[in-house]
Amino acid sequence: MKPLIQAFHDKTTGTVTYVVYEKDGTDCAIIDSVLDYDPKSGRTSTASADLVVDFVRAHRLNTAWLLETHAHADHLSAAPYLSRQLGGRTGIGAEISVVQQAFARVFPQRPGIERSFDHLFQPDEDFAIGALRARALHVPGHTPADMAYQIGDAVFVGDTMFMPDVGTARCDFPGGCAATLYRSVRKLLALPPQTRLFMCHDYPPAGREARWEVTVAEQNEKNIHIRAGVTEQQFVEMRTKRDATLEMPVLILPAIQVNISAGQLPEAEENGVRYLKIPLNAF
Ligand SMILES: [Fe+2]
Repeated sequence: MKPLIQAFHDKTTGTVTYVVYEKDGTDCAIIDSVLDYDPKSGRTSTASADLVVDFVRAHRLNTAWLLETHAHADHLSAAPYLSRQLGGRTGIGAEISVVQQAFARVFPQRPGIERSFDHLFQPDEDFAIGALRARALHVPGHTPADMAYQIGDAVFVGDTMFMPDVGTARCDFPGGCAATLYRSVRKLLALPPQTRLFMCHDYPPAGREARWEVTVAEQNEKNIHIRAGVTEQQFVEMRTKRDATLEMPVLILPAIQVNISAGQLPEAEENGVRYLKIPLNAF
């Protein structure tokens, strides 16, 4: 089955949000939504999320799922806002508990954080989006909890690989592992060659427009980090060397503390203002 897929590309963070559905008037899933956040002013906005809301309403879709491929470090999730506007159950990989625990030493955990997502997917768990059949694939490496969602002939690969000329995701966050990512990507690239892969991000090199869709065949042929023939040892060496040169993502501290509790913002303090916390010298 070939689902319909609408992509929303957020230029600020390079994130692509997807609405996946069978046809107008059916159930849909929204994957990896973005709450706009300006770190200079501390201001949030729902401008990006509202484009998704408008699309879902215009196509008379019923939002069944608000899926996250992982706890993102580069943007805040808009899942709570979308859930209020459109309904839908939030879902992420069951290993999110490992990520929540890894950050417990720096970010005070909100009570009941382990229940902040409506659904935790087990590896290879089957689920439905209306008449569309879907499967949650556990693809750890970038983080322990990364999932890819296989929906008909399409797979939403999260932060495993990027477009062929960009390569793969970093593996140096807590619980990340380059060898594990290699095996996860190999599993995805063993799918039928014409399988459509949808990236969670694109960081296009100068002179190329942003793109986010590619086939398994093209990744196997051209991916600069992990095309067919690259060994696990070669990949791990390349990835480890490269990760040592990367800076922390600009929004990692704001994003992680919100995203490990399904995008819920901190409660307001006595003065009515919500605060994000920046741990000093913890990383
Ligand atoms: Fe990520």
